[in-house]
Amino acid sequence: MRILVCGGAGYIGSHACVTLCSRGHHVVIADSGVNSSPRVLQRLQRLVGAPVSLHRVDIRDRRAMAALFATYHFDAVLHFAALKAVGESCRKPLDYFDNNIGGTIALLQSMQEAGVRRLVFSSSATVYGDPSQVPVREDAGLQALNPYGRTKLVAEQLIEDLCRADDRFRAANLRYFNPVGAHPSGLIGEDPCGEPNNLMPYICQVAVGQRDHLRVFGGDYPTVDGTGVRDYIHVVDLAQAHADALEYMVSADRGFTVNLGTGRGISVLELVHAFERASGQRIPYEIVERRPGDSAEVFADPALAQQLLGWRAQYDVDAMCRDAWHWQAMNPQGYRSPLRRAAAPRVERPRRAVARLAGA
Ligand code: NAD
Ligand code: WQD
Repeated sequence: MRILVCGGAGYIGSHACVTLCSRGHHVVIADSGVNSSPRVLQRLQRLVGAPVSLHRVDIRDRRAMAALFATYHFDAVLHFAALKAVGESCRKPLDYFDNNIGGTIALLQSMQEAGVRRLVFSSSATVYGDPSQVPVREDAGLQALNPYGRTKLVAEQLIEDLCRADDRFRAANLRYFNPVGAHPSGLIGEDPCGEPNNLMPYICQVAVGQRDHLRVFGGDYPTVDGTGVRDYIHVVDLAQAHADALEYMVSADRGFTVNLGTGRGISVLELVHAFERASGQRIPYEIVERRPGDSAEVFADPALAQQLLGWRAQYDVDAMCRDAWHWQAMNPQGYRSPLRRAAAPRVERPRRAVARLAGA
């Protein structure tokens, strides 16, 4: 298939591009550059062994998007393009509504105009708010706790309404839990601007000496060790799920909503210790007040993704930490770090991922 990947220069989108190319699909990236580096292109091309088209286009720019659709005749769209910082969304809600909701509406209009009717949407576990029960199933109650979360909830609803109005339109809503890690080559990974909002990139920056210690938000939750529990998922597993979701949507000719998580909860301190083992670095930390709005424990019931797509996460927390560290150590300044001639030696990968990435 020829696939438009909106936001494909970002963290998760770039990994999805590698997987899609390894399965023989053709990708074209549209990315505004609001949270990505143009340098990802060279690295992606090295990973897929072929040219990749990256267009600096904002999905809200209807004219530029119409030109892309007219040039390439896409079979499907993967929609990663969004702003994603929860704290920033509370300070600048309108920017988030404009970019994430306005962007989704404009993209759906461009798709409709071009007659492209298959969409894979990057949703989030944030749509469950503070879930009353774990593991969280897809039929749990939905709730927005902040403007970012609201954009994901509204976008899911807009897409659902469009599917109701046009019975030829198919959409897959993928609700990611906590994506971490990097491509095992160390060539692409997460490159946050400024101070990281999320736990894993913060740990990585402590490990390379960019920050002196981690602040653990809360040590008095009713969890295994008092720290918050989340469902961390390797970004390569997530990338595989996108290809599986797209291929299932086409073959079964139906839309769906699934959780993408491992089904296993890991506490902040368990992740810190796993990272220390994987990297050989000490991660100094102090336990501070809880972060407002945080839940004690959130992890997925991933059974539906397995049932529909045959997808199950393959990488464990040690592999997530190993690959996150590999990326950070090879690229202490993210994409501003010089591209090395040869990727550092690889450690073993799960069999399924090896097979799927073999073409990359
Ligand atoms: P990212 O910021 O690395 O990638 C998003 C990409 O979209 C960036 O390259 C950015 O430049 C681009 N973009 C943003 N607005 C755009 C616009 N209007 N037009 C074109 N390009 C635009 O983020 P990510 O972590 O790769 O997340 C990808 C998607 O997954 C997002 O929709 C995010 O909300 C969702 N998500 C992320 C997480 C997470 O923890 N990383 C969890 C759940 C869901
Ligand atoms: C994980 C755990 C923190 C940083 C967020 C978004 C969610 C989704 C994924 C996009 C929590 C603790 C963190 C730190 C810490 N994104 N922590 N010190 O909050 O589960 O989810 O990212 O859709 O919408 O809300 O992830 O990585 O921020 O936090 O102790 O410096 O780590 O309290 O328990 P979260 P996170």
